Order: sequence, then C-alpha cells, then structure tokens
Amino acid sequence: MGPLTNYDRLFGLIGYPLSHSFSKKYFSEKFEQESITGACYELFPIPEIEDLSVLLAQHPNLAGLNVTIPYKQAVLPYLDTLSPGAAAVGAVNTIRCTAGKLEGFNTDVIGFETSLRSWLEDARGGWSGMKALVLGTGGAAKAVAFVLDRLGIPFQWVSRTAGPNRLSYRQITSEVLSAHHLLINTTPLGMSPHTGSKPDLPYNALSSAHYLYDLVYNPAVTAFMQAGRHQGATVKNGLEMLHGQAEAAWRIWTTEEHGK
Ligand SMILES: NC(=O)c1ccc[n+]([C@@H]2O[C@H](COP(=O)([O-])OP(=O)(O)OC[C@H]3O[C@@H](n4cnc5c(N)ncnc54)[C@H](OP(=O)(O)O)[C@@H]3O)[C@@H](O)[C@H]2O)c1
Repeated sequence: MGPLTNYDRLFGLIGYPLSHSFSKKYFSEKFEQESITGACYELFPIPEIEDLSVLLAQHPNLAGLNVTIPYKQAVLPYLDTLSPGAAAVGAVNTIRCTAGKLEGFNTDVIGFETSLRSWLEDARGGWSGMKALVLGTGGAAKAVAFVLDRLGIPFQWVSRTAGPNRLSYRQITSEVLSAHHLLINTTPLGMSPHTGSKPDLPYNALSSAHYLYDLVYNPAVTAFMQAGRHQGATVKNGLEMLHGQAEAAWRIWTTEEHGK
C-alpha cells in the first residue's frame, strides 16, 4: 500500500490514457484554495476496466472517482446503484464509494445543461424553434441528448456509421446545416495533441445564425470552433461544462444529496 492510503479521503479519475486530464489540477487547487485537508485527488490510468477491483482493494480510503474515456459505459456492471440521470443516459462519470458500495452518477448532464442554458439564453434569448445536430454517439453524446430532450430541442444524431436513427457525415449537406442551427461536437476530434482535426462537415454552409458547442476544452479554441467562427457563427468550448461537472461530483461525494 502506497502513501495514498494515508489520506482520510482519496478521490481520483479512472480512464486510459489520462494525459489530457484537467481534473487532478482542478481538485488539487480546490483543496488548496478552500483549505480542504486530509483529501487527495489522483490520476489512475487503468489499462483495463477489470483493474478497478484491484484499485479499490489497494485504496480502502477511496471516497469518490470520476470516470472518463473509455470506461463511462464499461463501468456500469461494477456499480451497486445508478442515479436516475445516469440510468437514463446509460453512462457514468462519477462514482461515490461508501461502505464498500459503488453508486454511479452522471454529472456531465448537470454540467452541460447549466452551461448550454446560460449560453443560449445570453446569446439568443432562448432555444425556441432551434434544432440540433449531435456529432458522435458515445458516452458524452448520451448526456447531451438527455439534456436536449429535457429542454425540448429536437436533434439528429450524426455518426461515422449511418443507421436508422443517425446520419453519416457524408449525408450532412448544406441543406441539413441550414435546418439545424445548434451543432454539438461530442467526438474527441480536435482534442490536444490532434488539434488540426474536426468533424467532417460542409462548414461553408454555416452562418451567423449557427451556434457551435464543442465539448472539447483543450485547446480553448478548437479547429471546429475556428471553422464556425470563420463563417460568423457563435462558438463555445467545454471548459464551463468541465468545471460544472467537477463541482457537481464534489457535491455528490461530500453531501447526502444525490445528483441528477
Ligand atoms: N467538457 C466536458 O466536461 C466533457 C465531458 C465529457 C466528455 N468531454 C469530451 O467529449 C469527447 C467525447 O467523450 P466521450 O466520453 O463521449 O467519448 P467516447 O464515448 O469515446 O465517444 C466519442 C464518440 O465520438 C465519435 N468518434 C470517436 N472517434 C472519432 C473519429 N476519429 N472521428 C469521428 N468521430 C469519432 C464516436 O461516435 P461514432 O462512432 O458514432 O462516430 C464515439 O462514440 C472527449 O473529447 C471528451 O474529452 C468533455
């Protein structure tokens, strides 16, 4: 057992790889700034989800975990309970560990909803009549879809593989873009260090009527956002969502209240 077992409460992030993560810095600075003692936040890059059991056995002081790529769905069979939001989304990004029990939550939902609401309210006065394209169909995309449903924003899935409920990128024509003014990138395209890549779209069909939200937050201005800006679109990165989901996770780990 390493020195990490010396802390009263250990928190951390599981995923693989974890080189792009802001979470350790975020929580370490929070503990420092808010004089939270006896707590530590560590990165746990586990090559297989099966390694979660070993991690828990090695660190009996683990009080909470965040979950990122590629385990947001793979972690479900390891959990004892799921919050209603996590169950609806089918993906977990936050685990509370208490008395040997693992409870799963999805704070991407809270982070994205709060951020999208205030952005659209400020920029546009609301989202009435707006239609969206959700680019990508992974764990974060499901949280995005849950929020869009809740806000009453109709949306279309876009995937590398076409299917009954999803368009392929090749099917996204200028006409499709003209009919959908909110574009949400939930793919990892453009994330550092691959900053040159972006979803394959006819960007020249975008206009100042479009709103591009990128869940990627590193770099601050992604290639997707740059391409939208070039056409006069309003753009936003995922940093506010990241902070929102982290704070929601902290509330779940430290209070009796359950998240969404
Ligand atoms: N800002 C935040 O707080 C926040 C929160 C969560 C996630 N994120 C970011 O959101 C991104 C996705 O996270 P995730 O957990 O949903 O990942 P994920 O489960 O791996 O899903 C990503 C989806 O993107 C699509 N995709 C993957 N590689 C692609 C490629 N090379 N080209 C085109 N599409 C590709 C895939 O959909 P198809 O197979 O259907 O094409 C895939 O299902 C990451 O960059 C992550 O950092 C940000």
